[in-house]
Amino acid sequence: SELHSFLKKLPKCEHHIHLEGALAPSLLFQLASRNEIILPPDDDAFKSRDALLARYKRFLSLDDFLHYYYIGMSVLIHEDDFEALAWDYFRHASSDGVHHAEVFFDPQAHISRGISYSTILNGFNAARSRAQCELGITTELICCFLRHLPASKCLAVFEQDDIQASFANGAIKGIGLDSSELGFPPHLFKDMYEKAAKQGLRRTAHAGEEGPADFITNALEALGVERIDHGIRLADDDELMGRVAANGTMLTVCPLSNVVLKCVGSLEELPIRMFLDAGIKFSINSDDPAYFGGYVLDNYCAVHEAFDLDIGDWERICRSSIKGSWCNTKRKAEMI
Ligand code: ADE
Ligand code: ZN
Repeated sequence: SELHSFLKKLPKCEHHIHLEGALAPSLLFQLASRNEIILPPDDDAFKSRDALLARYKRFLSLDDFLHYYYIGMSVLIHEDDFEALAWDYFRHASSDGVHHAEVFFDPQAHISRGISYSTILNGFNAARSRAQCELGITTELICCFLRHLPASKCLAVFEQDDIQASFANGAIKGIGLDSSELGFPPHLFKDMYEKAAKQGLRRTAHAGEEGPADFITNALEALGVERIDHGIRLADDDELMGRVAANGTMLTVCPLSNVVLKCVGSLEELPIRMFLDAGIKFSINSDDPAYFGGYVLDNYCAVHEAFDLDIGDWERICRSSIKGSWCNTKRKAEMI
């Protein structure tokens, strides 16, 4: 339709996509076979691509999804595997009208399996160069830490020589905090975020996805984050909403993810209209596109249908997501 083509053409920036969450079942099975990885034999979901996709439609919660997410990424072994994964995402993103993508990855989930950090980074960087040359899209990497693990373990990984080198040489733009939210408040990671700030890294954290609005306050105050990933529970706290609007902090909202993981009962329950009315900046993102049934354009279309936005609303959303990006001002000017 005319609207679909309008939404497709909008100059998009994506800020909340976990590269491991772009692992489509077809690539998952292909890599499992090539790398001789045994998928759980006692779970019927791994019997076929269709069975796996059917299981993805029945996620009960963030943790239920994460169980599959961590098993899925166990097929990633070689540099080429990481490159293929990232390239697959960049191709989809470009065809959806993404001009600039800031992508998450979870080094701890690979290092713990004996994969070296350079294998991950070299693979992703090869795909990033190709995306820049062949698709004209700019990209940044955001190194995420797993909050269900002890903060001391996260800090030790943060301080690893090879990871520190990737911060110092600009390969990594910033840090994030992801995985299970309930039971793991942001302030546990205060030391790591303080060090990151001193090193000139940009800082974001998942907060207010399944967890309460308090976790958003906590991430802003204890971690000094510049963005909030998800942040939908902000709608429960009027006072905080005023502060977030006044400070211009951007939320990276992931509509289809929130429905699939049952953080909301339906898209219509998302506070999209409330955020627009309150002057809250937000971008629209896919989170884990291979698991939640859609890339970024599917998320734009779903939001459009649920909230009946007008052209002015879309222009505001796109402008905020360009402004809230961590690219330089020249690149921002090219996109506006
Ligand atoms: N890891 C991948 N996707 C995630 C999400 N939506 N929330 C927390 N951790 C994640
Ligand atoms: Zn996420």
